[in-house]
Amino acid sequence: MRVLDRSFFKKTVPVSAATVLENKNISAVRKTLSSSKDALDLPRFDGCTTPMAEKLVVGRDGRILELTAQEARKKRCVVLREDIKHDDATTWSPILNELVEKGMVGLGPYTIDLDYSYWTYAEIIEAILPEEDVADGEFPEGFTLTGHVLHLNLRERWYPYKHLIAEILKDKNPKVRTVINKTQVVGSESEFRTFPFEVLAGDNDMNVTVHEQGCEFQFDFSRVYWNSRLETEHRRLCDKFKEGELVCDVMAGVGPFAVPAGKRKIFVWANDLNPHGYESMEDAVQRNKVHQFVTPFNMDGRKFIRETAQMMTSPSTKVIIQPRTPASLKRAKPAASGRTPAPPPQIYTRPPTVDHYVMNLPATAIEFLDAFVGVYAGMESRFEPYDPARKLPMIHVYCFSGHSEDVRVDHEDICKRISERMGFTLSPDDTIDGSGNRERELEIFNVRLSPGTECEVFAAGKAAGYSRGALPSPMYFWSGPDPVASDRPQGGYRPQAPRTLQDGDVIRAELRPGRRFGDVVDEMVAQMEGADGWAFGPCVHSLNPLIALFGWSGDVRMDGAERYPSPSNRSIILADMKLMPCMCFALEPNYAFGPHLAYIGLIAIVGEDEAIELNLYTAELLPAVGKQIVNMLEQRLSVFLGLG
Ligand SMILES: C[S@@+](CC[C@H](N)C(=O)[O-])C[C@H]1O[C@@H](n2cnc3c(N)ncnc32)[C@H](O)[C@@H]1O
Repeated sequence: MRVLDRSFFKKTVPVSAATVLENKNISAVRKTLSSSKDALDLPRFDGCTTPMAEKLVVGRDGRILELTAQEARKKRCVVLREDIKHDDATTWSPILNELVEKGMVGLGPYTIDLDYSYWTYAEIIEAILPEEDVADGEFPEGFTLTGHVLHLNLRERWYPYKHLIAEILKDKNPKVRTVINKTQVVGSESEFRTFPFEVLAGDNDMNVTVHEQGCEFQFDFSRVYWNSRLETEHRRLCDKFKEGELVCDVMAGVGPFAVPAGKRKIFVWANDLNPHGYESMEDAVQRNKVHQFVTPFNMDGRKFIRETAQMMTSPSTKVIIQPRTPASLKRAKPAASGRTPAPPPQIYTRPPTVDHYVMNLPATAIEFLDAFVGVYAGMESRFEPYDPARKLPMIHVYCFSGHSEDVRVDHEDICKRISERMGFTLSPDDTIDGSGNRERELEIFNVRLSPGTECEVFAAGKAAGYSRGALPSPMYFWSGPDPVASDRPQGGYRPQAPRTLQDGDVIRAELRPGRRFGDVVDEMVAQMEGADGWAFGPCVHSLNPLIALFGWSGDVRMDGAERYPSPSNRSIILADMKLMPCMCFALEPNYAFGPHLAYIGLIAIVGEDEAIELNLYTAELLPAVGKQIVNMLEQRLSVFLGLG
């Protein structure tokens, strides 16, 4: 197939179903048939559904019961395994037999209609591409999303199917309106780091809106540089800047360092040679209301570096931020002695010297370093030791490394390239904890654009804990477009290569920053009220920061439980604290029906505006407990998290 024929994926499967004759038995029948494996186990298919209006086989004597359409609408049936035939009792399991004999269910035909919307991207691609093309396990996957534009970097072997691949990806990613493919080899980018591409599917509209670190950017993706994979790096560097500092971004693009830094009340002079980049940055500065802190420039980086020295001598600007008066204070009547005093304004004065330079043009940024030599000549008195409070600026320069086997070789090469430009010798030993000249304050940091494999992320997560002297909590990590569980990476215990993470693996949900653990626990419990169960210690495991908190409702609905009264009836057992962006939690509502626990959960990172959910499908782990319960809890949790 070279042109996508969606009708090709229509499939009608005739099966049988067990209709529950009395609605009060729905849950029990469903549970029984799922434990006995009589229920059809088809991914992404809800096997408890409305029966077709048909003749049902009922009771020991094989009586026939006719169901009208109206009656059928009020009932539920459990769809059965394909090899079970409603009209052939020899195919029934003893458990199904028993349910029929007891008059709890009636068996009839059922038709499953699957179409294009049912199948996943992987399933469709596998069905379409010739077997020999996917025989080596390689698959056309991996893309970057920039607003509504999905950017593929297809290997040549997939070119014959490029339009097909693009159409399917667009269909399966509702946010995507345009699919493009980079058309030439590495190094063909323009001086502004834009790249030639062709539109493979959807609208030829490259005006995108993207969000990073709580800021909004709008730009024409065909004319400016943007890479969504750099968000972690942008954030890492912004975290190094302190409120009130002055940062010069020499190659700022549309401002993914500058604008978020401005939001954090850091003064930024942000420059880019690309006039479109400059215009988009101006737009972002206004759009995100950071104009008091961020000033855009449009010139060559080398000239900009030299000019910043002069700009430092201009009078310092002041930003005065009036505190927002809380509504409660506005409503409050003035005290007898007079008016309620307003909190003082925050005043930020631009520093007299630059604290950081950022140079993110990896192909050539090192070559711009000579522009710093002598740039502050005659201005020595502005810095230490004359002014002990003002250190020389830190320069953050990006470059590509040689990827040699020995990282030391790469670091030596980087130092050599820097030394040639700066006119003095720099060595990899000159790091702050190294054996060389520590005053150089050298730090070499490897930036990874790809998130790596599951095992690498897992190892990095553990290492981050151990290297800080902490014992990392048990860590679960499964990825993929349809992850079915959360566990250790499969590559760690199965003979298979570690899976490389792809864009789109992470799912978003809402866990608002600014709330408290107690609120989260209370809401988890409240959402399940009225479901005839009880909350079995709803948990919020805090993975970062590393403490575990949970609440215990004391409402244990199990025989004999009254002999063991709950010690407390609080939402929170340890101290409560506010949720902040980057904290990571495992949420477990842990709802129980009698002695049966529906053990579901999810892991989410608190984002700037909304949560980043890491494993949506944990609940799929537990169908044996009762799929209906799990589904119900899943729905309720979705509502609670704002997904529903
Ligand atoms: C890799 S992009 C980085 C942009 C931005 N800092 C980011 O992280 O997304 C490099 C930027 O350098 C700009 N650029 C290229 N040559 C330049 C020069 N001589 N002076 C200043 N900027 C330049 C390009 O227009 C591009 O926006």
